[in-house]
Amino acid sequence: MFISFEGTEGVGKTTLIRKLHDHFQALGKNVLLTREPGGTPMAEQIRSLLLTVNHDEAMSHDTELLLMYAARAQHLERVILPALADTKIVLCDRFTDSSFAYQCAGRGLDREKLTLLNDNFVARMPDITFWLDAPIETGMLRARERGALDRFEQEKVTFFEKVRAGFAEIHHNEPTRVKRLDATQTPEQVFEQALSYLQQV
Ligand code: TYD
Repeated sequence: MFISFEGTEGVGKTTLIRKLHDHFQALGKNVLLTREPGGTPMAEQIRSLLLTVNHDEAMSHDTELLLMYAARAQHLERVILPALADTKIVLCDRFTDSSFAYQCAGRGLDREKLTLLNDNFVARMPDITFWLDAPIETGMLRARERGALDRFEQEKVTFFEKVRAGFAEIHHNEPTRVKRLDATQTPEQVFEQALSYLQQV
């Protein structure tokens, strides 16, 4: 089973993923925890290129999109697909929905570019995706408390409002795969809500 986790900054994805990881392990399941962009040494190098603020050279939106997919191709082939073939439960912090929400809805890139990449380079979509949704201000406060802001976290509220609307659109179009979790609840409540969806699948 392939499960992805999505949402804007600081909505508590990491906490939920850890809780589910521990839960599955306690049940004796073989579970793999991974993230995007990243998940392999090479893809993590691409991640640092994507997240580092470079004052000398702004990254073009196309470059950003292509680097996300370069990292994803590596991650899929080297980590996700082999783990699924090995019947592991894969918990992935962000996947293709982030590309739609951030690069298309947020940056304004044409969605046909993304469709082209998805159709050609994404052989497997998640079985279930949890979208942790909370007002932008809540998450930005949490992100700021974590310390230095990365290249995305430095964006303005208006950018994240567009990203959130992007996730809402995906949720609306694919209600079977994408489940919305109310991230203003306590971590325990979010976990229980996720578990109840998983029990249905
Ligand atoms: P991450 O550490 O996952 O962010 P957070 O902990 O705040 O959830 O950082 C990854 C950043 O990359 C995040 O700001 C979202 C962005 N991103 C995209 O823009 N497109 C993508 O396809 C992916 C996977 C991530």
